[in-house]
Amino acid sequence: MHYKVHPDHPEPAVIAEAAGILQRGGLVAFPTETVYGLGANALDQAAVARIFSVKERPADNPLIVHVASLSQAGELARTVPEPALRLMEAFWPGPLTLVLPAFGHIPAVVTAGLDTVALRMPDHPVALALIAAAGVPVAAPSANRSGKPSPTTAAHVLADLAGRIDMVLDGGNAAIGVESTVLDMTAPVPLILRPGGVTREDLAEVIGETLYHPAARAGIPENPPRSPGMKYTHYAPEADVYLLMGGNGEMVATAGRLIRRWHREGKRVGLLASVENLGGYLSLPDEPDHLAIVGSREDLGAIAQNLYGALRSCDHRQVDVVLAETFPERGLGVAIMNRLHRAAAGRVAE
Ligand code: TXA
Ligand code: MG
Repeated sequence: MHYKVHPDHPEPAVIAEAAGILQRGGLVAFPTETVYGLGANALDQAAVARIFSVKERPADNPLIVHVASLSQAGELARTVPEPALRLMEAFWPGPLTLVLPAFGHIPAVVTAGLDTVALRMPDHPVALALIAAAGVPVAAPSANRSGKPSPTTAAHVLADLAGRIDMVLDGGNAAIGVESTVLDMTAPVPLILRPGGVTREDLAEVIGETLYHPAARAGIPENPPRSPGMKYTHYAPEADVYLLMGGNGEMVATAGRLIRRWHREGKRVGLLASVENLGGYLSLPDEPDHLAIVGSREDLGAIAQNLYGALRSCDHRQVDVVLAETFPERGLGVAIMNRLHRAAAGRVAE
């Protein structure tokens, strides 16, 4: 069930086998440029229902439908407004999901009964080959157990779902590391429901103004949520996550204080750290029990790439609490901070 596949030139025989599984109603995990997805034929109600059950995903959280061509998107969206077309041209294939009015033949289990559908064309040769070979649109959430950080490697997928799914295509590490941007094109002004791989600055160059849904910005659930997924805790390791605020010096000092306190309480502490602050943490009188380096603060792309793996490593190392550095909320930093806020569920280190 675990197949290595060449990320740029996927072996046709492997793709044919995976496509056959999808056609027969099975579940295939596959790499995309953002995170690994867990795919089923989007038009097969029973197959899609299985996605919800193996992920233990709440039924009111709709799925993104993945396509390999614009004509496939046209068969799923009732109307595609002109700005949405321009976005498809600019960013597809890529980490942008567009919420559009749905055609009625899409099973309600996919859309959670909404009259809209979320569409995305992933920028990954394996994903595109699989969707094309299957000849059907592919509903695919991230291939993690609900609530866990999304998988950026096949090993992450297997850690959560081994034995529950029919096949994993292992195409190596996901390049972007955080999920796609979800943009609601049915709102009066295009509304960013989830910040992701395509930034608001990127969108502005093509369609001008967009708005952030309040929950997209800080990660704080809103009532009623526009994107049902936003009301659930997410991206969290077993341990409680606390965010380190302020400048570099302040983050190191706060970490030092808290590690001392938690060690006195007998707790094991994990720390998600930038390269820049590594020296500071290592010279603290009390060192963390697990140090996960996420990258340079100057390279938000690297931070995004390493974030979920770092959160998962805290489960592996069985820490009781996790301290995580915070990052500037611009560009990809908005998506990074959205995921960190949600992993921390409001806990701030002080
Ligand atoms: O990068 C990604 O988007 C990955 C890869 C596998 O493509 N997929 C992914 O799917 O992150 P998932 O299910 O983990 O997140 C989908 C998000 C959820 O927050 C969900 O509520 C929202 O998209 N969504 C799906 N359909 C929607 C709709 N019709 N209206 C509003 N939000 C929708
Ligand atoms: Mg997910």
